[in-house]
Amino acid sequence: VQGPVTVTVTGAAGQIGYALLFRIASGHLLGPDVPVKLRLLEITPALKAAEGTAMELADCAFPLLQSVDISDDPRVAFDGANVALLVGARPRTKGMERGDLLEANGGIFKPQGEAINAVAADDVKVLVVGNPANTNALIAQAHAPDVPAERFTAMTRLDHNRAISQLASKLEVPVTAIKKLTIWGNHSATQYPDLFHTEVNGKIAAEQVDEAWLKDTFIPTVAKRGAAIIEARGASSAASAANAAIDHVFTWVNGTAEGDWTSAAIPSDGSYGVPEGLISSFPVTAKDGKFSIVQGLEIDAFSRERIDASVAELGEERDAVRGLGLI
Ligand code: NAI
Repeated sequence: VQGPVTVTVTGAAGQIGYALLFRIASGHLLGPDVPVKLRLLEITPALKAAEGTAMELADCAFPLLQSVDISDDPRVAFDGANVALLVGARPRTKGMERGDLLEANGGIFKPQGEAINAVAADDVKVLVVGNPANTNALIAQAHAPDVPAERFTAMTRLDHNRAISQLASKLEVPVTAIKKLTIWGNHSATQYPDLFHTEVNGKIAAEQVDEAWLKDTFIPTVAKRGAAIIEARGASSAASAANAAIDHVFTWVNGTAEGDWTSAAIPSDGSYGVPEGLISSFPVTAKDGKFSIVQGLEIDAFSRERIDASVAELGEERDAVRGLGLI
């Protein structure tokens, strides 16, 4: 049994926070025998709500939960953080242009990056969930020069899980039959869920579905699932997003299974023509607490075009935050 792990969650009083904290405290983030200290960051008006959640956490009497601290100061909340889950973000409101959105989020992720740099543990692992997640991760990373760049990641695991579920239901197989699915690019409508290397009971998925379904149903259904949830639920994905954040960190810490991989947005090393430094989703394995991009996959013209389009969008977002002086 290892010592307690300090986990900082931002946006802790939000809807993802509410679905996330109880699973972290019950041992699902790191493992069933790892004690946890929670540190919650919220904006000042939401501190009271965060305290209410902390009361409920206490009422669960979770054996692994050693402490819950709440603050509206990033330098306090990230103190000693081994895992930082950056969930709180500024949502796009009506009439907001992309530049406005990026600027508003720069005001959140720049000081959080600085605070992580100053006070987090040396081994800190950062997952950005708050949108636009890939570019928010880039902003935070730019302000944490002393933290190794690869510790900044963004979440595409929800897209990955959605894609597995859609495919399993189409082929009428259990989700466990599906391996090596990949989400490429940005966590946005341009993302590309790739079935050309995905295996279903050992056979390539793209060869088991017709091209029209792949192109006109599967890809748009996965990419637009977030909007479909909002339409149905009247609120954006929360429990499934929290679940994906748990999956992302659990895999990062505990590794991927032999013969499988997952999807995560991590800083590019130039693999697959993705410009170095962009935080883009790739097929990744995890071992000893490190993600590595799966190498050597053949990318056909159909996939190339879609990967390039999503990566181009990431490049535009990077140029925009550069232009705003945020990185
Ligand atoms: P929410 O609006 O319910 O909660 C966000 C919380 O963040 C609020 O309590 C707010 O007070 C807090 N917050 C705002 N600025 C903050 C700051 N500077 N420091 C600390 N806390 C701050 O939103 P919800 O539903 O929990 O979603 C959170 C984010 O996750 C959104 O940006 C959403 O778009 C994103 N998301 C990402 C997904 C992904 O797959 N990457 C999936 C679903 C949601």
